[in-house]
Amino acid sequence: KELVFSGVQPTGNLHLGNYLGAVRRFVALQETHDCIYCVVDLHAITATLSQPDLAAQTREVTAAFIASGIDPARHIVFNQSQVAGHAELAWIFNCVARLGWLNRMTQFKEKAGKDRENASVGLYAYPALMAADILLYKATHVPVGEDQKQHLELTRDIAIKFNNDFSEQIAARGYGVGETGYFPITEPLIGGPAARVMSLRDGTKKMSKSDPSDYSRINLTDDADGIAQKVRKAKTDPEPLPSEEAGLEKRAEAQNLVGIYAGLSDTTPAEVLRQFGGAQFSGFKASLVDLAVEKLGPIGAEMARLMKDPGHIDAVLADGASRASAIAERTIAEVKDIVGLIRR
Ligand code: TYM
Repeated sequence: KELVFSGVQPTGNLHLGNYLGAVRRFVALQETHDCIYCVVDLHAITATLSQPDLAAQTREVTAAFIASGIDPARHIVFNQSQVAGHAELAWIFNCVARLGWLNRMTQFKEKAGKDRENASVGLYAYPALMAADILLYKATHVPVGEDQKQHLELTRDIAIKFNNDFSEQIAARGYGVGETGYFPITEPLIGGPAARVMSLRDGTKKMSKSDPSDYSRINLTDDADGIAQKVRKAKTDPEPLPSEEAGLEKRAEAQNLVGIYAGLSDTTPAEVLRQFGGAQFSGFKASLVDLAVEKLGPIGAEMARLMKDPGHIDAVLADGASRASAIAERTIAEVKDIVGLIRR
């Protein structure tokens, strides 16, 4: 049976890239799949351990999920640390994953930077925890932005190795599913015009929560004026927009803004260029501001409203966590049996 899982880190500044590359697609998948959406607070402490506003940011991502249209009654929304199975399975996966696999992870290299000796062990093991998030629920489909592709490949490698290393134990217990073994080989769902939204200041850099310039990103909490200013200041080139997609090549900033427009309006870059081909950026940006304010304004307003009642958000998370735990506990029990860890 198909099951969707995805996670978002509560590291502040949820932005348009997170929305178009991930959250908006989470919303759409609710119509066709059972979905589990997780605020991954254990991942959030891998880069910086002490974060006085971690709890508030966990609530803010939860509010963003709900404000964007995720329904925590029909699907499962919770924060990772409330379900013990994530950390338990991550430990087993630390023993499945090879150093060589983790050494190839580009996100670790980027995040650790030059001072690698001083990066936390958690940051290094991050992808094994991510694999645990997904496989704890035996999720088959994972919607993410382009930047998570390598982590999802690692998740598949971990599933394959576990299934292989334990094939006899899995078969003996009758825990296997068909040909694959115990864990499914997860499909990444990456795509659309906004799988990789770039910085508004530099079309070669990813839009990111950690960019020091707030003008590089549109935050979900930005008001209409803020959105308008950032779009107006967004970097462009002097040429008018081309009328075909091929004309966007080597024009990273133009391509990014067209992709954003297409993502927000649920069309394709080709369609956007049919409408705006030949237009100057000033005119196109004005339309983009209107569209972004129309789509994001209500989300930001609803987030602000939800954030006034943290007790309600915590209740949503607690309810989601207890439903997630019911699934997770079964997987952990089976994994313990497979590995040979005695349990109660
Ligand atoms: P995180 O919190 O950095 O980002 C959340 C989601 O937003 C996507 N994203 C983008 N998409 C398009 N353009 C961008 N500029 C952009 N920036 C971010 C990310 O790809 C992601 O889908 N490791 C994950 C969190 C995670 C997870 C998981 C995801 C933990 N466990 C299990 C899926 C399944 C992360 O750091 O995402």
